[in-house]
Amino acid sequence: MRAVLITGASGSLGWSLVQYYLKNNFKVIIHCRNKSSLNSTQKNFLLNFLHRYELVYGDLTKNSTINRILIKSNKNNINILINNAAKYLNKSFLKTSIKEVKNLFDVNLLFIIKLLKVLLNKKKRELLIVNINSLAGINGGSNESIYSLTKHGLKGFFDSLEYEFSNTGISFVNIYPGAMQSKITQNRKTYENLMTTDEVAQAIYNQSYEYKSLKIKSVILSRKKY
Ligand SMILES: NC(=O)c1ccc[n+]([C@@H]2O[C@H](COP(=O)([O-])OP(=O)(O)OC[C@H]3O[C@@H](n4cnc5c(N)ncnc54)[C@H](OP(=O)(O)O)[C@@H]3O)[C@@H](O)[C@H]2O)c1
Repeated sequence: MRAVLITGASGSLGWSLVQYYLKNNFKVIIHCRNKSSLNSTQKNFLLNFLHRYELVYGDLTKNSTINRILIKSNKNNINILINNAAKYLNKSFLKTSIKEVKNLFDVNLLFIIKLLKVLLNKKKRELLIVNINSLAGINGGSNESIYSLTKHGLKGFFDSLEYEFSNTGISFVNIYPGAMQSKITQNRKTYENLMTTDEVAQAIYNQSYEYKSLKIKSVILSRKKY
């Protein structure tokens, strides 16, 4: 059975991904911040999939969480890692504190760098790394300077790693969604027109199987019509 590890699985897109992969017969390693991250509806849904999932907890700014994720990844021989967790910040640059900047760096960049340093060191077989970036990783956005900075950082990091790991079993696909219906966007006037996380999860799932001789490096997802 193929196994996928999804970070930030209690969040809007993370939870859609968990459901999609479980329904499609994957073993799912579910990362959440803590035991109370999943609500009762989510816990009830998981009762339908006993033995098909494992939970791993922890704040992504803590090194102990990286160790726990590494142990679960190796034990389950994961085929896919989905870097989904991220911290969003919608605040003017001048009002943003350095503490907030550091927190975004820690979650959106440093955690992924630290995890891949240990995971790829040990990983001798095939692994697909799916990075949930954002259109903010290609363009800028109003009051999104620091968030956008971290997403641009991810783009540069993975565009470069792709060269370092070419001709290995490690491959990367970068997903750039536009705005989705989620906690982040719930107050927008256009909320009803935004993509749903279920639609986006399906498009991400479609990247789970590699083509023999074709590489898909980036997937940009947005509504056909607004
Ligand atoms: N929503 C959008 O419109 C949109 C658009 C483009 C791209 N994206 C990207 O899509 C991905 C998912 O976004 P989303 O909308 O689903 O966001 P979300 O609902 O806020 O989910 C984010 C997840 O990351 C977790 N997380 C954040 N900081 C953490 C930390 N320090 N330790 C452990 N877990 C932490 C959250 O856990 P807690 O709930 O415990 O905080 C949550 O499970 C992100 O990479 C985001 O940048 C979102």
